[in-house]
Amino acid sequence: MRAVRNLLGWIVWALLVAGATLAIGVIWFPQLPVRQPLAFNHAKHKKMACVVCHRGVETGAWATIPDMNTCLNCHAAPPVKDATAIAIWSAAAMAKHIAWQRINRIPDHVYFSHRRHVDLARLDCASCHGDMADRTTPPAHPLTRISMNNCLDCHRQQSASTDCARCHK
Ligand code: HEC
Ligand code: HEC
Ligand code: HEC
Ligand code: HEC
Ligand code: HEC
Repeated sequence: MRAVRNLLGWIVWALLVAGATLAIGVIWFPQLPVRQPLAFNHAKHKKMACVVCHRGVETGAWATIPDMNTCLNCHAAPPVKDATAIAIWSAAAMAKHIAWQRINRIPDHVYFSHRRHVDLARLDCASCHGDMADRTTPPAHPLTRISMNNCLDCHRQQSASTDCARCHK
């Protein structure tokens, strides 16, 4: 009897620990890890202005992720070495499309415009995206988590609006 109770105690403990670990995981990493089709290297393109590839970032709501035509402007031959990567590159070059996955995303009920923050407020990309410029591989999660609290912290510091209706549709 005692042994059974001990065993049950351990099982309950194990479940509690597993549950807590999962909860912490979900809070820190609310999205599943993203795997990009190719190991794009931001650091190797550091001499270029971000806007060359992220074209809408100064003029529109979305920064946009570059399609294959942008890459082909500079890379007539595949800039990758291993066979799998060359195959992926060649197929993408032929289709003029590569399926980059977005990692930063806020819900549809929130207004957000890059132009407002990059052009008008003159903020660095790094203040919201962390050190993307020095990444040698694509991150599986946003380097800095985008949350309402993060938006509000900066809005309070910089005397921008904290009115619900400014951000929410
Ligand atoms: C303005 C020109 C330019 C554009 C546009 C460009 N690249 Fe490059 N890329 C370079 C140069 C220059 C290098 C070599 C850098 C070095 O080796 O230091 C390079 C290197 C690379 C490498 C090799 C990196 C490594 O780790 O050795 C890859 C992969 C790559 N580019 C992918 C891309 C992709 C994907 C795009 C489109 C999203 C793209 N490039 C757009 C100029 C460009
Ligand atoms: C040569 C093209 C190129 C340049 C220049 C470039 N990027 Fe990127 N960027 C990409 C590609 C391709 C991806 C998707 C793959 C990845 O995450 O590495 C990306 C992804 C990103 C993302 C994640 C977007 C998302 O899915 O939410 C951020 C943030 C970003 N870049 C910021 C920057 C910043 C900041 C700079 C300038 C310091 C910059 N990029 C310069 C090509 C580029
Ligand atoms: C004030 C914070 C902030 C700044 C500054 C900022 N971003 Fe973003 N970025 C975001 C948010 C929030 C999203 C998610 C937008 C959405 O889901 O509509 C995002 C998304 C992106 C994406 C994903 C694709 C897309 O079309 O939106 C890229 C790429 C990106 N940002 C690049 C940049 C670059 C490059 C800069 C600097 C020139 C920059 N961002 C500056 C907050 C910021
Ligand atoms: C690092 C600082 C910073 C962060 C982070 C930031 N903002 Fe802002 N935001 C500003 C500043 C500064 C302005 C005022 C820009 C201007 O219009 O001159 C602004 C303006 C705005 C406006 C226009 C407000 C109005 O008065 O109409 C909206 C909407 C907005 N931000 C949404 C967001 C959202 C949503 C997020 C989070 C995803 C966010 N911001 C994160 C600094 C920030
Ligand atoms: C500076 C912009 C900003 C302001 C001001 C703001 N919010 Fe938000 N809010 C956001 C962002 C961004 C998210 C999405 C966060 C995420 O995806 O983690 C959000 C999410 C929410 C959510 C969660 C909805 C969901 O998707 O689960 C609620 C509820 C909410 N906001 C209410 C409010 C109320 C009430 C106010 C006014 C007191 C307010 N917000 C002011 C940016 C803002």
